[in-house]
Order: sequence, then structure tokens, then C-alpha cells
Amino acid sequence: MKSLFGTLADGTTVHSWSLANGGTRMKVLSYGGIVQSLEVPDRRGRYANISLGFDNIEDYVAGSPYFGALIGRYGNRIDKGRFTLDGDAHQVDVNDGVNSLHGGAKGFDQHVWDVEPFAKGSDVGLHLHHTSVDGEMGYPGTLKVKVTYTLTKHGDWRIDYTATTDKATVVNLTSHVYWNLAGEGSGTIENQELKIAASRYTPVDAGLIPTGEPAPVADTPFDFSRTKRIGEDLREAHQQLLYAKGFDHNWVLDKGISPRPEWIATLKDPSSGRTLRMATTEPGLQFYSGNFLDGTLVGSGGNVYRQGDALCLETQHFPDSPNKPSFPSTVLRPGQTYRSTTVHSFTC
Ligand code: BGC
Repeated sequence: MKSLFGTLADGTTVHSWSLANGGTRMKVLSYGGIVQSLEVPDRRGRYANISLGFDNIEDYVAGSPYFGALIGRYGNRIDKGRFTLDGDAHQVDVNDGVNSLHGGAKGFDQHVWDVEPFAKGSDVGLHLHHTSVDGEMGYPGTLKVKVTYTLTKHGDWRIDYTATTDKATVVNLTSHVYWNLAGEGSGTIENQELKIAASRYTPVDAGLIPTGEPAPVADTPFDFSRTKRIGEDLREAHQQLLYAKGFDHNWVLDKGISPRPEWIATLKDPSSGRTLRMATTEPGLQFYSGNFLDGTLVGSGGNVYRQGDALCLETQHFPDSPNKPSFPSTVLRPGQTYRSTTVHSFTC
């Protein structure tokens, strides 16, 4: 079901699409492919919206920390926005101190996507299309992107990304949903429990750029290889936590790049019983513990969002891969198709 969500300053209309299947309900905006709400039941059958967002387009445009949005052309950071590809130096938009974050000041999260609904067998969903022109935000090549959101009969939300280019470029697409399994606006996620199938992570410098040397998570606050309460080690005086004001790091998934989505993480809220299981084809997972939420934004349910009121689990290639030859490559060339799939399964 399609409805008008709002109008941008230049007159472009933004629509909201409602999807429901297998007990999961979601609303998706044509602006940024934003998941504006995602509702699932708790163990007593009570629904809550478990994704942070706004109830109007003006707030998204005024300055959203990527609530629910599609991220591109490059998820996470590129050191000083610079990289060299096939001998050519590129400077992409710098929007995070001296670095480039999530595609630059106007990333895919701020474009209006073409949205086409579909129903196929027992699935329902949306195809979202966006063309990023050659040179946009400094990236080479015209990039044609297609993202498919599918809600399955089991209530799983699946994202399939594909992209093609007409010049060599770098691509790293992801989704920036802020999860709070107890419900958006209900307070901290510190008592929710997380497990990540990773024995290493990529430590960062003060600007949150990976040093390039993955480190073991064993005996550090970064060890989520066994289920752990998120708040358990969050206040440990570990240099990496100080840099990021909490968790904001890339976990090196043990499975590596896989042709099919494989399970990589489970988030559980013991109070409601809601559980999110994630599977992906990607080699990395950015776990961000909502460190920069600071009580200045009023969410869709009317409550203020404060530090740690949600967390992001962004499947991805590693940050700054264009400058890190030892990381899996993010280069896409003409004739190749970028593919990435992530599946979110909800139980209670
Ligand atoms: C980044 C954070 C950033 C946030 C934007 C995350 O993906 O890792 O450093 O602040 O997005 O709100």
C-alpha cells in the first residue's frame, strides 16, 4: 500500500510503502529507501516498532543520523576521502572530520529512489532503483543500483543489492537500521544480548579509520563470540572504546565472503523475547552502539533518543578497504555485477 509521506523543498513527493507478511510489518520511504518503521510481536503477541525513525519527512531532511536508510556508494569511512584506483587518484566528499562517511554529504540515504512493489509466490516486497551519476560525491563511474526488500511468509526481511558501473569504482552498500528490540523510544539497549560469529575485529585510529591489522576479540570487550549483554564491557577503559565512545567497529566475520547468506549475528531482548537473527554474504559487520545519539532528536513515537537507545548492525566490506590492499576488495569494474544479500529473521 502506497501513501504520501511528504514533499521535499523542490516539490518532489516522498511516498511510504506498507508491507506485511508472516507477522512482520514494515513501512519504507522512497527517500533513502528508509525503513521508517518495522513492527514485530513480542512473546505475548504485542507489536512494537523496533526501528528508530521520524514521523515526518522534514526531520529526515533536516539531519538524520541515517535512520533506517540505504547507504552508498561507500558504507562507513574512507581515510581523508582519498584513494587510488588503477593509478588514478580520487577525492570523494569529506563529511566526517577529515574523512568521508557513508558516501559523503549527499549519499544514497538522501536520494529519492524509484520504488516498484511486487508479489511473487508467498513473498511480497519492493524493488528500489537509483542511478548515481559519474563523479557524484567524487566517485568515478555511473553506478546503477537495485535493492530488493523482500518480506517472506516467515516474516523475514531480506535485502538483495546489485550494482553495475561503466567505469572502475568502489562500492560498499549497506542498510542503517537502528534496532531496539524492546521498541523505539523505550530506552537503552544495554540489557539486550548480542552474539557475533567473529573471532577478530578491525581496530581503528582516533578518526575511526582501521589500522589495517585485524586483532583477536579474545579477552577484550569486543568478544561477542558467546552471547553477551551489550552493557557488560561497554564502560571498560579500553582505548578502542574511548575512540568511538562505545562500540563502532567492524567485526571480521569468521565465515568470510560467502556465496549464500550465512548466519552471523543474533540480537535478543530478554524482556520482550524479541530476537533478531542475521545472515549475510558479506565479510564484515559494523556494530555501532548508538554512541552519537545525544538527546537532540525526537523519534517517531514522540520520545527523545539518547546515547545507546539503539544499535546498528551493518553488513559490509571493511571500512577504508580502498586504501587497505589486505582487506577484501570493494572494486567494481564494467561488466561485473556487485551482489550482496542480508537476511533478518525475527522470532519471539
Ligand atoms: C558509523 C558511526 C556513525 C554512524 C552515523 C555508523 O555506521 O560507524 O561512526 O556515527 O554510522 O550515525
